[in-house]
Amino acid sequence: MAQMSPEEIIDQQRQDWSRVAPAWEKWDALLHQNLSFLNHRLVGDARIRPGQRVLDLGSGTGYPAIVAADAVGNQGEVLGLDLSEEMLDRAKRKAYGLGLFNLDFRVADATHLSEGDGSFDAVISRFCLMFLPDVPKAVAEIARVLKPGGYLAAAVWSVPDQNPFIRIPMEVLRRFIDLPTPPPGQPGIFRLAKPGDLSGMAEQAGLQKLGDDEIQADSFYDSADTYWTNLLDMAAPLQPLFAKLSAKDRGEAERQIKEAVEQFRKGEEIALPMAIRIVVARKPF
Ligand SMILES: C[S@@+](CC[C@H](N)C(=O)[O-])C[C@H]1O[C@@H](n2cnc3c(N)ncnc32)[C@H](O)[C@@H]1O
Repeated sequence: MAQMSPEEIIDQQRQDWSRVAPAWEKWDALLHQNLSFLNHRLVGDARIRPGQRVLDLGSGTGYPAIVAADAVGNQGEVLGLDLSEEMLDRAKRKAYGLGLFNLDFRVADATHLSEGDGSFDAVISRFCLMFLPDVPKAVAEIARVLKPGGYLAAAVWSVPDQNPFIRIPMEVLRRFIDLPTPPPGQPGIFRLAKPGDLSGMAEQAGLQKLGDDEIQADSFYDSADTYWTNLLDMAAPLQPLFAKLSAKDRGEAERQIKEAVEQFRKGEEIALPMAIRIVVARKPF
């Protein structure tokens, strides 16, 4: 696979996530049902308290920034950054609808932060850091903008084996097209999946590692149909791969994915296991 330049990666990411922004709004309730626990976990792990200044990297349609805004209260403030204006438009509407005015969203690349040294009590991030062209650089930026004693709490996807939620469609796709593993260091869903991947970079950047844990949860769907439609609508990294299939192969891939997913049925619902890596680190005083 040809290496993309950092600029090309950023452009691709911006285009991919902007394209799926309307779908993220459409599926917001389901996404929140499946992932809201993670917002609270990140806010807790970052020890966020009233009155603090918090930075959320890759806020997308607003999480975990919105939950952090509630935690810091009127005396605190939260800044959410994302590459995609389209994603942030949805985040802004949501925050406004919830009556949160201590929260600002801005278009920016998380690898180049314009904020000054020591500006934030905490940096949080949900499912963004593995998509950056230069994660060590971004982590060095996080360390720079944190106040002494400030916390980083980030969620990334853990290994594919523990994530049938993402593994199944990739396994099925591999039966139809060549799906090369991204070269080491190139962005991808599982780029920071292993213990030490992200926490090692945090230590390199001078942060003190407090945790590097895999946590398990289920992602619930009322049917295999809902899972499939949701996947196709929202999964920006997978869309271009499905687009490579002929109509016939796509139909067959859909059938195989739904059949595999159906094996996770628990009564009325499908409960697909997810495994998430949570990395927590602190800037020394
Ligand atoms: C999977 S979404 C997660 C959104 C949100 N944090 C959530 O969990 O619902 C990944 C987000 O990361 C953003 N992103 C990717 N690369 C980025 C970068 N270099 N700087 C800022 N945001 C980036 C994308 O635009 C997208 O909104």
